[in-house]
Amino acid sequence: MAFGASSSRESINKKFASYAARLVPDADIDLLDLNDFEMPIFSIDRERESGYPDLAQKFKEYIKKADGIIISFAEHNGSYTAAYKNIYDWVSRIERSVWLDKPMLLLATSPGGRGAKTVLGMATNSYTRANKNTVTSFSLPFFKQNFSLEQGIIDSELSELFNQQLKIFLDAL
Ligand SMILES: Cc1cc2nc3c(=O)[nH]c(=O)nc-3n(C[C@H](O)[C@H](O)[C@H](O)COP(=O)(O)O)c2cc1C
Repeated sequence: MAFGASSSRESINKKFASYAARLVPDADIDLLDLNDFEMPIFSIDRERESGYPDLAQKFKEYIKKADGIIISFAEHNGSYTAAYKNIYDWVSRIERSVWLDKPMLLLATSPGGRGAKTVLGMATNSYTRANKNTVTSFSLPFFKQNFSLEQGIIDSELSELFNQQLKIFLDAL
């Protein structure tokens, strides 16, 4: 299961997550688009009145059937995008373990030099504590300069670092 944690149609994080998923040998990939999981903004009152939206259950089904999870995080104002956080909030109410202790490869990229490291750090901290399985992470700065669909990660040092994290994830699958 792979997705960019963004609702942008041209999401660079969706491209990056999709690229990483294609490097998993013999994988059947569920590449999700967060626009297919748009739900009312989470509120405890909505939950009390109507329960969880079907789309939250559907998202959870994808997690259940996945052997591993690849997410590439877009950063909005130093945090998760609202589109991702809303899905996460709903799904977190279904059961305590959101990621069901599946191996995770957490990625992040941005057009600038920080490579969305703030949101990636947030997710890595949180999911490392919540998930008993392997949670590994990598941030790619300057997406446009450092990535091409044909070559993948162009910079050799960054590519090496990415491959190390990818291997840790693959070994955990
Ligand atoms: C509302 C908004 C807030 C943003 N805040 C940040 C930020 O805090 N840090 C950052 O690195 N980029 C920020 N950006 C730029 C995003 O990194 C850029 O839009 C990137 O393409 C998002 O990834 P995506 O294409 O996968 O959606 C922001 C963009 C928007 C629209």
